[in-house]
Amino acid sequence: MRDAAPVSTPPRVLPPNDPRQYDDLAGEWWRTDGAFAMLHWLARARAALVPPASRPGALLVDLGCGAGLLAPHLVGKGYRHVGLDLTRSALAQAAAHGVTVVNSDATAVPLADGCADVVSAGELLEHVPDWRRAVAEACRLLRPGGLLVLDTLNDTALARLVAVEIGERLPTVPRGIHDPRLFVDARELIAECAMHGVELRLRGIRPELRGTLGWLLRRMRGGSARRPVGTEAGREPRIVPTRSTAVLYQGRGLRGG
Ligand SMILES: C[S@@+](CC[C@H](N)C(=O)[O-])C[C@H]1O[C@@H](n2cnc3c(N)ncnc32)[C@H](O)[C@@H]1O
Repeated sequence: MRDAAPVSTPPRVLPPNDPRQYDDLAGEWWRTDGAFAMLHWLARARAALVPPASRPGALLVDLGCGAGLLAPHLVGKGYRHVGLDLTRSALAQAAAHGVTVVNSDATAVPLADGCADVVSAGELLEHVPDWRRAVAEACRLLRPGGLLVLDTLNDTALARLVAVEIGERLPTVPRGIHDPRLFVDARELIAECAMHGVELRLRGIRPELRGTLGWLLRRMRGGSARRPVGTEAGREPRIVPTRSTAVLYQGRGLRGG
């Protein structure tokens, strides 16, 4: 009798922005050439906005922390890094990278008012149906003088074109991970933060072009496919400022006293 041909299970197709996609992609988080590669570049750029802690025991709350990609970039800055996320499989990896994890929705955070010196919301708001509620929570967690840092996608036709129509066809962004109806209007975000006592300043950001093209070519040739995590840093495309906030933007703001 012949052996039956192995049956491969096709990847399940989930609706756009369905959080179960993060479970299906759990093996990708820490691959610097994997489906979440760009999150590594963005984590480096976000961490650059965070100054060293100003007091012992300072707390940084990382909303939607995923697998904790921010953690290596905070080393030496003196924060206790608490990460909150909906996805348990991601939190298990964050915990393995030294993050104290909380399994919760960013719109209802089980932490005290004013507990955080820094709140980070990296690539989170564009995934949350009620992003205003998540912003309110981020601001609530900040102590007076505390710092909010975030990055997200703008609610523009250009962002839909670049991040979804083009981006999700490239190996840097998983297909179906975004629902463009949730993208966050930059002016509305500033207004929402102001309502909660945080004066947010924005700047447009993008991956540098040459480095990204080089990365894509290496990736297509399979050049770095088996490179262990951490050896790519020098070759990783940098995130650079750009004049327009129409696609991807970073925000930074202090909570008033
Ligand atoms: C694009 S990933 C970004 C992860 C991480 N901030 C980073 O930059 O590497 C979005 C993360 O947000 C989480 N997420 C989505 N909606 C959420 C919600 N309502 N509350 C908490 N986490 C959420 C997902 O599980 C996922 O880990």
